[in-house]
Amino acid sequence: MNGDLESIVLTEEQIGQKVKEAAAWLDARFNGEYPLAISVLKGSVMFFCDLVRAMKTPVQIDFMTVSSYGSGSKTTGVPKIVMDLAASVEGRDVILVEDIVDSGNTLVRMRDLILGRGAKSFTVVALMDKPSRRVVDVKADYACYEIGDEFIVGYGLDYAQKYRTLPYIGILKREIYE
Ligand code: PRP
Repeated sequence: MNGDLESIVLTEEQIGQKVKEAAAWLDARFNGEYPLAISVLKGSVMFFCDLVRAMKTPVQIDFMTVSSYGSGSKTTGVPKIVMDLAASVEGRDVILVEDIVDSGNTLVRMRDLILGRGAKSFTVVALMDKPSRRVVDVKADYACYEIGDEFIVGYGLDYAQKYRTLPYIGILKREIYE
């Protein structure tokens, strides 16, 4: 385990199992369709790549970079679109893939944007869910794992852009970010 972590929340194997279950849920929901799967960069990139490869349903993939945390550990509350989608979402079944739903601000911003552009449906799959931190009333349609208010990193999740490439998710030691 990385020395900056105090404990592991999900091992690589446990993440693999969660990914399989989420993929099966999506396959059941989109059987026979051709949805557009969107990765909200950068945090969701690892989960997204594993998830779309675990699905049997063919999907179109696209990417959007949204950022609200900058280099610190506190949200600015205003998610900024740093890079927009290449594809049109008009008339499409959109699957939004998130690494974590925290305050919910990013999700609301994405939902309003995508439905505002005329998507046919909007489905959110999140790897991690922190319901205790929510400031807006929104939730993922499918969340793989619910966690309390711990500072977690790894498998896409960062602190000051670090730890994203760890293959597991763990709790960061307090002394690292305080
Ligand atoms: C993180 C995470 C989600 C968002 C969730 O992104 O990847 O997109 O915050 O937080 P919220 O529910 O409070 O909006 P961040 O802005 O840190 O950018 P990153 O994906 O590049 O890490």
